[in-house]
Parts: sequence; C-alpha cells; structure tokens
Amino acid sequence: MSEGRRAEHPSHAVVTERIAALYSGAPFELLDCGVLSGVTYHHLLQAGLEVDYTGIDIGEAAIADCRKLHPGARWEQMSVADLAFPEGSFDVVNCRHVLESLPYYETAVRELFRVARRTVAICMFQVPREPEALLRRETANGYIWLNRYAPGPFEALLHSLSESVEIIDVPADHRRNRVYFCTKRSA
Ligand SMILES: C[S@@+](CC[C@H](N)C(=O)[O-])C[C@H]1O[C@@H](n2cnc3c(N)ncnc32)[C@H](O)[C@@H]1O
Repeated sequence: MSEGRRAEHPSHAVVTERIAALYSGAPFELLDCGVLSGVTYHHLLQAGLEVDYTGIDIGEAAIADCRKLHPGARWEQMSVADLAFPEGSFDVVNCRHVLESLPYYETAVRELFRVARRTVAICMFQVPREPEALLRRETANGYIWLNRYAPGPFEALLHSLSESVEIIDVPADHRRNRVYFCTKRSA
C-alpha cells in the first residue's frame, strides 16, 4: 500500500476512537512501534488527545525525519523485537502495518505486551488467513518480509496475553485491514 493510502485508511479512526474512549480528557503515555512518517502521531493530535508520545522505528532515516517534523514527541531508533523500555512503561502500545514485515511475529508481540500497562493495538494490512504465507522479497538494500499469518496461533497468542481482544475488520476500497484491540491480562 502507498504511504498516502496508508495515512488515510479508515483503520486509523477505528484505533483512535477506541483510544479516545479510554483516555480522552486525561494525559496518557503511548508507544508507537514502526512509525515511518509519524502518521499515527498526526492522527492522535488531530483527535485532540493529550498523548505523551514515543515513536520507534528500525530505520535511521525515518527517525531523523520524524524528529525534524514533530519535535514535540520522542523518537528513538530501535527494533520492535527488542524494546529498550522496562515492563509496563506505556498505557497504550500501538503497532500498525509492521508485524507483516518481520521474519515472524511472536517475539515482537510479546515485547508489545511486556512494555504495555493496559492496551495493545495491532493493525494488519495482510489480514491473517489460512494458509500462512511467509514471503521474503529481495530489494535493492537486502530483503523484506511480506507475511500473511495464519489466524489461529496468532489470535491464540493474543488471547493468552489479554483479558479481552476485540477484532475489527475495517473495509476499504483498496485494502481491508484488521485491528486487534487488546486489554492486557493483569499479572
Ligand atoms: C509499512 S510501514 C508502517 C508505518 C506506520 N506504522 C503506518 O501505519 O503507516 C512499516 C514501518 O515499520 C518499520 N519496521 C520494520 N521492521 C521493524 C522493526 N523490526 N522494528 C521497528 N520498526 C520496524 C519500517 O522501517 C517502516 O517504517
């Protein structure tokens, strides 16, 4: 999906509305994993939320651009599979359109839940379905993954870490998305 289409996709509103229902009118801390241009930060600000925002991305250039574009937020270069934050650091942890481009999802999902206090929001543009398809694509700079995961084990992992998992299928002309809005299981 192009960056413009990703930025306008209705799945942003689905996630932002649910975060607003929980945290509107009070400051809250949010970690966004795999930020690219900082599109989620933009949506949260537009919704008028009092978000104390930290964004991470593996790409040095993405983080440098976000620092220039949005100096009001914190931007750090790191991997979603190895988050340099203590357990329970953020009220909300968001991860949109990233798990599909990892070699697999499990380490990253466990990291999202480890650093979350309450809410984990995951959005996929490769909507999970059988059969699982792990596709490694060569690029000029190496390779990227474009994976479509089997829903069963993925959703079982989310349920094992959550008190509740809301699954929302978001239709769109060009690409359906699926949002998993999870409330973390208390210890
Ligand atoms: C398709 S973009 C999604 C950007 C944004 N979240 C959105 O919804 O439009 C995927 C981003 O994830 C980043 N990414 C890929 N692997 C990562 C990893 N292991 N850790 C953190 N970010 C990663 C890429 O650099 C890229 O900026």
